Amino acid sequence: MTGLIDQFGRTATDLRMSLIDKCNLRCQYCMPAEGLDWLKKDDMLTAHEVIRLADIGISQLGIDEIRFTGGEPLVRADLVDILDGVHSKHPDVDLSMTTNGINLERKVDDLVAAGLSRINVSLDTVCPETFAKITRRDRLTKVLSGLHSAKAAGLGPIKINAVLLRGINDTQAAELLTWSLAHGYKLRFIEQMPLDADQNWKRANMVTAAEIREQISQTYTLTPHEAPRGSAPAELFNVADPATGEVLGTVGIIASVTEPFCAECTRTRLTADAKVRSCLFSHTETDLMELLRDGSSDEAIADAWREAMWHKPKAHGQTKTGLGMPGFVQPERSMSAIGG
Ligand code: GTP
Ligand code: 5AD
Ligand code: SF4
Repeated sequence: MTGLIDQFGRTATDLRMSLIDKCNLRCQYCMPAEGLDWLKKDDMLTAHEVIRLADIGISQLGIDEIRFTGGEPLVRADLVDILDGVHSKHPDVDLSMTTNGINLERKVDDLVAAGLSRINVSLDTVCPETFAKITRRDRLTKVLSGLHSAKAAGLGPIKINAVLLRGINDTQAAELLTWSLAHGYKLRFIEQMPLDADQNWKRANMVTAAEIREQISQTYTLTPHEAPRGSAPAELFNVADPATGEVLGTVGIIASVTEPFCAECTRTRLTADAKVRSCLFSHTETDLMELLRDGSSDEAIADAWREAMWHKPKAHGQTKTGLGMPGFVQPERSMSAIGG
């Protein structure tokens, strides 16, 4: 079996599948208040097609873990069928999901029964006013009850993804960490990336990994975590009480902008309309929908996917420039349409 190798020697074994572009929040760094032009139902993968693509990825291309993303994956009514379909055929493949946590409370038991093993929840603040400002929806309580239900259902370890926005929640890093440590959630801060639909991102305005480390260090002692990082986007630190030295847990920092990790990338992405994206920042996509619907074989689909990944760019969608540096051009699709 030839896997998803690229011309720079990387092999993608980690599949991120966006199941839907819609979301029930409107985070400022992602979506405009009025939403976007959503994909039409006929242009989106059906549950059966998602399961078939996952099967091709696993059986023919060496995929060994799948993360379902959106938009918001819980908005998809057939999410349990999708998980069940993939898990019953491939029980050894790790199935995870990145979600905003709304509606998790109601669905989590069925998701776990269908084979979901891990979740990452997006949560930028535990202050209700700040939450409403960032997401343009007053739904913090729903997210928190979703998180706590997931813990009670035995999903774990549960990770929290937080983006810091200057002038909004940029002084709340330590507070969010204290809260996450108290509840046993593994917090990671993500540098804001130029993937917002409004294209308002400016490198100079972004809260950097260095700033985040400095801010947390005013409350806690940070030391590098001993575990090898591998291809994980997050750099992990041990968090200790400065008075006693007791290690209280960990914090991760995903420095996609200032400390990119493209050389170790093991990811391949599929959008909800069946396009392979070899990189978050690609300007090209390879359509698999036509092949899925014109009777093409699994082998033909696998070949098209391989070909798409062979052309994965060396770094950040381009070879010479970094995020936000001269010459950088933001991809046409925003985070919610790509899948994060
Ligand atoms: P696990 O480590 O398996 O828990 O998942 P993850 O951290 O890869 O997944 P998650 O969806 O929580 O992603 C966290 C953040 O990392 C998101 O903002 C992603 O956009 C970002 N991220 C994930 N993969 C990549 C990548 O390949 N490139 C860049 N630049 N960012 C990524
Ligand atoms: N920059 C960084 N992270 C982002 N996310 C969404 N948009 C952006 C952005 N522009 C995060 C979400 C979610 C993860 C998949 O990506 O908060 O946790
Ligand atoms: Fe991989 Fe592209 Fe992310 Fe770099 S920017 S780590 S190549 S997906």
